[in-house]
Amino acid sequence: MPDAGFAAWRARVEAALDGVLPSTNVASQRLHAAMRHGVLNGGKRMRPLLAYAAGNAFGATDEALDAAATAVELIHCYSLIHDDLPAMDDDALRRGQPTVHVAFDEATAILAGDALQSLAFEVLAEAPLPAERRVAMLAELARASGAGGMCGGQALDIDATGKAKRGQSHFSVEQSHQATHPDRKHDSDPVSLADLERLHALKTGALLRAAVRLGAIAAGASAADRIALDRYADALGLAFQIRDDLLDIEGDAATLGKTAGKDIEQGKVTFPALLGIEASRARLAELAAVMDAALEQLPADTTALTALGRKVIERDR
Ligand code: IPE
Ligand code: IPE
Ligand code: MG
Ligand code: MG
Ligand code: MG
Repeated sequence: MPDAGFAAWRARVEAALDGVLPSTNVASQRLHAAMRHGVLNGGKRMRPLLAYAAGNAFGATDEALDAAATAVELIHCYSLIHDDLPAMDDDALRRGQPTVHVAFDEATAILAGDALQSLAFEVLAEAPLPAERRVAMLAELARASGAGGMCGGQALDIDATGKAKRGQSHFSVEQSHQATHPDRKHDSDPVSLADLERLHALKTGALLRAAVRLGAIAAGASAADRIALDRYADALGLAFQIRDDLLDIEGDAATLGKTAGKDIEQGKVTFPALLGIEASRARLAELAAVMDAALEQLPADTTALTALGRKVIERDR
């Protein structure tokens, strides 16, 4: 799909986000301003694009997909505000601007994240769709955001932080690729490749998969088609975080809009830390092939989904 198509979907979701966020003219103005700062600050809007592309492939109108696109981006923005807090990754720069707790204060950043999360579910509950689709979408986004999804993955990320170096002192980078040691049972155990894939699948993959699923549910895609879409989305989710981890090493703050080099500094367990850069790139190429194979099984025009998969792998921010 030409980038013009994505620009139109991006403009749609920007307008929808602006429309649902509370006004800074009414109390609590500080909270509302922080919510707006954390959302309307130039994100790539990958999750909304995935929701529009998945739903569009199965015949849904853009109007029927706006709620899915908006809700998943609100959850994502909340997760970024909390991810940047001093208690988590302690980042000062996001999307080229000061993070919410820097521009406002920590308490306001925590509340802004909380309020964006609630707003996401309110938006889905009010979507102009049949009630059973709305309930399915609410359940999907709740599962993807919670302990069995994004929050659980963030907890595993924190738990694994600092364990990569320890792992490498026991196993060389090449040996850890074999993932011969069993999955971690104790906090002191090194992190295996299988552990890392699970961590990524939860912290990043769950919301990206939810974006695709919300679009598919809104469109009424069949169960069989949703299985193929899941295969595509799972490969895309893993690829997304591998690319993020590579960019943290190879990118610069001016392009990324966020501080580079944080993962090594903080001892984060990442694909490049565990496998090295070349093997991580090779894994991205494999995942592109998995995405293509999954999309080929769908009786739909998957041009936009294919293009989004490529964007994830080739992006420079
Ligand atoms: C960054 O997500 C956080 C991860 C899950 C890796 P994005 O790269 O989608 O960030 P924005 O929304 O474009 O800022
Ligand atoms: C963030 O992963 C994942 C979520 C916010 C759920 P990272 O911590 O790698 O994201 P960046 O690099 O800060 O955007
Ligand atoms: Mg993080
Ligand atoms: Mg972070
Ligand atoms: Mg990162």
